[in-house]
Amino acid sequence: MQSRRTGGIGRRVEGGTARLIAAVLACASGLAMAAGAERVRPPDSIAERVAACVACHGNEGRATAEGYFPRIAGKPAGYLFNQLANFRDGRRRNASMNYLVANLPDAYLQEIAVYFAAQNPPYPPPQAAQAAPAVIERGRVLTERGDGSKLPACAACHGSALTGVAPAIPGLLGLPRDYLNAQLGAWRNGDRRAHAPDCMGEIARRLSEADLGAVTAYLSTQAPAAHAAPAVQAPAPLPLRCGGLEALSVKAEAVPAKAEVPARAEALPAKAAAVPAKAAAVPAKAAAVPAKAAAVPAKAAP
Ligand code: HEC
Ligand code: HEC
Repeated sequence: MQSRRTGGIGRRVEGGTARLIAAVLACASGLAMAAGAERVRPPDSIAERVAACVACHGNEGRATAEGYFPRIAGKPAGYLFNQLANFRDGRRRNASMNYLVANLPDAYLQEIAVYFAAQNPPYPPPQAAQAAPAVIERGRVLTERGDGSKLPACAACHGSALTGVAPAIPGLLGLPRDYLNAQLGAWRNGDRRAHAPDCMGEIARRLSEADLGAVTAYLSTQAPAAHAAPAVQAPAPLPLRCGGLEALSVKAEAVPAKAEVPARAEALPAKAAAVPAKAAAVPAKAAAVPAKAAAVPAKAAP
C-alpha cells in the first residue's frame, strides 16, 4: 500500500543526522551535562536547538509541496507539543522523531512547540491534481460537509478555512498527499494514536479506502490563504470528543505556570522572545475548550 511505503521514506532519512541532532538536543537540555560537566558548554539558544529540525522540516519548518516531511510552522502550539510528546511516549512511530525527542522533558518540548507555532513562512504552491475531477469533488464534499450521520465534516473541527483551531487542532493544507495518506492509514492500523478518546482514529476508521483517497486528493491540491493562521475557536462545538484537547487542559491545571520556559526565554533571540506571552495564553484557552466539547454528546455534523 502506497501510504506505508511513503511512510518509510521519513524513517529511512538520515539515521545518522537524527542521532547527531538528538545528541545536540540532549546536551542543550542539560541531560547529558551531568556526566561531563567539565566539557565546554554546548550552544543553548532556542534558535540553535531548532536549527537541527530544519534539516528535514525545511527553513522555519515550512516543508515543501513535494516529498513527505510535514510542515510544522504555524501549527497550534498545543498540537505541536502533543505530537512531540506522542513521539516521545510511543503513541506515534517514526524512527527519527522517536529518537530525537526520547527523554526530553515537557517544558523543553513546550518551548520548541511554541517556537515553531510562532513561525509563519509562506506556503509552497499546492500539489498538482493527479486524481479525476469527480474524485476531488467527492473529497471537497466530505471535507466541507461530511457524509450524513456516517462522517462529520473535516471542517467542523479543523476550521472552515482548514487552517486548524488553537490550541490543539492542526491545519490540513500545505501537507503533501503522501504524508496525509500515511497519517490517516497509521490511525486506521493503530500506528498513530492521540490521547483517548482519539477522535481522529474514529474518523479514519469511518473513511472507506476510496473516500480516504478522495479527501487527501482534495486537501493536497488546495492553496491556503497567504499567511493562513489557526482559528481561535471551532465554528461550533466539536462533533466528537478529542482527547488531545483534554490532555492539554489537564496539564494546564496540573502545571499552572511552566516556570522553566520563561526563564529559558531570556536566552532567546528577539523574535522568539515575544513568544512566551502566547504560550501562557495557550493553557487558558485549552481549559475552556474541552468543557464545551464534553457538553455535546458524540453526534454527527450536519
Ligand atoms: C531526520 C529527519 C527529521 C528531523 C531531523 C526532524 N524531523 Fe520531525 N518529522 C520527521 C518526519 C519524517 C515526520 C513525520 C513522521 C510520521 O510519519 O508520523 C516528522 C514529524 C514531526 C512532527 C509532527 C508534525 C505533524 O504535523 O503532526 C513534529 C511536531 C516534528 N516532526 C517536529 C520536529 C522537531 C521540533 C525537530 C527538531 C528537534 C524535528 N522534527 C526534526 C523527520 C524529521
Ligand atoms: C471531531 C473533530 C475532528 C474531525 C471531524 C476531524 N478531525 Fe482531523 N484532527 C482532529 C484532532 C483533534 C487532531 C489532532 C490529533 C492529535 O493530537 O494527534 C486531528 C489531526 C488530523 C491530521 C493530522 C495532521 C498532521 O499534521 O499530522 C489529519 C491528517 C487529519 N486530522 C485529517 C482529517 C480529515 C481528512 C478529516 C475529515 C475526513 C478530519 N481530520 C476530521 C480532529 C478532527
